Formats: sequence, C-alpha cells, structure tokens
Amino acid sequence: MKTRVLLNSIMLLSVLFPAVLIAQDNITAQQVQDTTQQQNQDTSKKDDPQQTKRKLLMIRKGNRTVHKYVGANECQPCHSSEEIGDQYRIWNKSKHADAYSVLASPKAIKIGKERGIDNPQESDSCLECHITGFGHPQSEKDSSFNQSEGVGCEACHGPGSDYRAMEIMRDRDKAIKAGLAIPNEQTCVACHNENSPTYKEFKYDNFLKKIAHPVPDTASM
Ligand code: HEC
Ligand code: HEC
Ligand code: HEC
Ligand code: HEC
Repeated sequence: MKTRVLLNSIMLLSVLFPAVLIAQDNITAQQVQDTTQQQNQDTSKKDDPQQTKRKLLMIRKGNRTVHKYVGANECQPCHSSEEIGDQYRIWNKSKHADAYSVLASPKAIKIGKERGIDNPQESDSCLECHITGFGHPQSEKDSSFNQSEGVGCEACHGPGSDYRAMEIMRDRDKAIKAGLAIPNEQTCVACHNENSPTYKEFKYDNFLKKIAHPVPDTASM
C-alpha cells in the first residue's frame, strides 16, 4: 500500500513537471537546457520521492549546479580538426555567429523603432534570442565569454566550463553529467517561434541540415 502511494507521487511529479515548464510564458533556450540537464542528473535518485520533490523545487527556484559559459573560442582548439570535425568553422560561418551583430543592422534598428526600442543590442526583448546564456548572471560567465559571439555553441550545448576538458569530453556520460546538453527540437523552438519579429516557419529537419556540423565517421578519438 505504502509503495503504491510512493509510486503514485513519483508519477504525479513527473507528469506535473513538464506542465511547470510549459506554464512559464517566456521560457528561453537556456532554461530548457538547464532543466534537461538537471533531469538527466536526477534519474539515478528516483527512489526517494521526498528527495525528488525537493530537487524539483530547487530546479524551479533555479538553485542548480552552476556551470559557467566560456565562449565558443574555448571550443575552437579541439573542434577545428579533420579528425573531430570543423564544428567551429561551420558555426562561425553560420547566421548564429552573427546573431548579436545583426541587431545593429538597419533592419534591426527599424524593427526596434517600431517597438520603441532605441538600441536592440541593449534591449532584453531582442537579446533574449540573439545571444548565448541570456538571463544568466555575470557570475555564471567566464572572463573568456563575450556576448558578441551571438548564438554560440553553449546556447545549444550548455555552459562548458566543466565538460570541456579532454578526459571528460571523450566520455559522453561524464560530459553530460558535467553539463553538456544534447540539443533537440525543443532547444531550437525556444528561439525559433512567433515571438521573433522576423519569424520564418521553423521546420526542424530542414533547419538542422542548414547548421549540420557532424563528427566525421572516421573519428578515432
Ligand atoms: C580539449 C579538447 C576539447 C575541447 C576544449 C572541447 N571539446 Fe567537445 N569534444 C572533444 C572530443 C575529443 C570529443 C569526442 C569526439 C568524438 O565523438 O569522437 C568531443 C565531443 C563533443 C560533442 C559531441 C558529444 C556527443 O557525444 O554527442 C559536443 C556537442 C561537444 N564536444 C561540444 C563542445 C563544446 C560546446 C565545447 C566548448 C564549450 C567543447 N566541446 C570543447 C574535445 C573537446
Ligand atoms: C538562443 C536562440 C536560438 C537557438 C537556441 C537556436 N537558434 Fe537558430 N537562429 C537564432 C537567431 C537569432 C537567428 C538569426 C541570426 C541572424 O540572422 O543573424 C537564427 C538563425 C538560424 C538559421 C538560419 C535561418 C536563415 O534565415 O537562413 C538556421 C538554419 C537555424 N537558426 C537553425 C537552428 C536550429 C536547427 C536550432 C536548434 C538545433 C537553432 N537554430 C537554435 C536563434 C537561435
Ligand atoms: C523569440 C526569439 C527572438 C526575439 C525575441 C527576437 N528575435 Fe530576432 N531572430 C530570431 C530568429 C529565430 C531569427 C531567424 C529568423 C526567424 O525569425 O525565423 C531572427 C532574426 C532576426 C533578424 C535577421 C532577419 C533577416 O531576415 O535578416 C533581425 C534583424 C532580428 N532578428 C532583429 C530582432 C530585433 C530588433 C529584436 C527585438 C525587437 C528581435 N530580433 C527579437 C529570434 C528572435
Ligand atoms: C543552434 C544550435 C547549435 C549550435 C550553436 C551548436 N550546435 Fe553542436 N549540435 C547541435 C545539434 C542539434 C546537434 C545534434 C545533431 C543531431 O541530432 O545529429 C549537435 C551536435 C554536435 C556534435 C556531435 C556531432 C556528431 O556527429 O555526433 C558536436 C561535436 C558539436 N555539436 C559541437 C559543437 C560546437 C563545438 C559548436 C560551436 C562551435 C556547436 N556544436 C554549436 C546544435 C548546435
């Protein structure tokens, strides 16, 4: 009987939790990432509902393990090779790397004016989707990080301070525990949605192809 009650409350919590996410109206890419990571880390401790509940409340308060944003330049040394793949260069040529600078373009200035915004590069209502780590305090950003990189690696893969070391990167499970996020469609639609003043219909498969940056099959690391 008692086990049954415990099981029910676990199920209830896991049903409620996604609802909590959806209920926030201004959810950002980072928030989706943060909770996904936290859920990954939590799966080992599902046996104690009190513990699970406490953790869920902590997540909602944003009281999680803090990994810092280090910036795409810190990923470049390893992710610019024939062996692992040239993810850095592919990203750097993509529109994501221009996401901050595009906010200074005549088009951005015009969009801003229509909304009473003087400088889109200083307005949260634009930066929200045009930089990495939006909504995270300065204390969660390493000195190597600069928001002018736009939508950098860590906007999709999570803050890298604790997973970027070679011994961790080589071990996918360790990397995920240290904050690496494996992005999915949810990651994208946190920004690619109708709150974008220039919204273009988002089709995951098509858009994914446009930003593809695979590890070559020959990778032997
Ligand atoms: C010290 C070298 C090094 C640095 C720095 C580094 N990586 Fe990696 N990364 C690797 C290696 C090695 C792999 C494994 C490649 C393979 O699959 O063979 C890897 C794999 C990955 C993967 C694939 C994970 C998977 O299994 O799907 C992602 C994503 C990734 N790195 C992102 C980053 C990001 C973002 C940064 C910067 C914050 C970064 N890496 C910095 C070496 C590095
Ligand atoms: C943090 C917000 C954010 C996230 C997360 C994000 N994007 Fe973007 N994306 C942008 C912005 C902003 C632009 C436009 C940048 C520019 O034009 O300079 C963009 C542009 C693009 C473009 C180019 C579109 C064009 O008009 O040519 C593609 C393709 C794209 N994103 C795919 C994706 C995919 C796939 C994902 C998820 C894996 C993703 N994005 C996640 C903000 C984001
Ligand atoms: C909800 C996320 C989001 C917000 C908020 C946002 N953008 Fe964007 N922005 C995007 C995405 C995603 C793209 C890529 C095109 C699209 O919307 O599908 C983009 C593209 C752009 C582009 C390039 C468009 C082009 O066709 O060349 C400009 C300019 C721009 N945004 C300006 C702004 C300005 C100015 C603000 C603030 C008033 C803003 N954006 C707010 C997500 C956002
Ligand atoms: C807009 C979101 C986005 C950005 C920015 C981004 N990635 Fe990714 N990355 C993804 C997605 C989505 C996947 C998984 C694609 C799939 O499902 O196969 C991925 C996969 C990877 C992989 C594994 C590829 C494989 O074949 O297993 C590596 C390595 C990687 N990213 C590194 C990086 C690095 C380094 C940067 C910055 C230089 C970066 N990514 C920027 C979304 C992003």
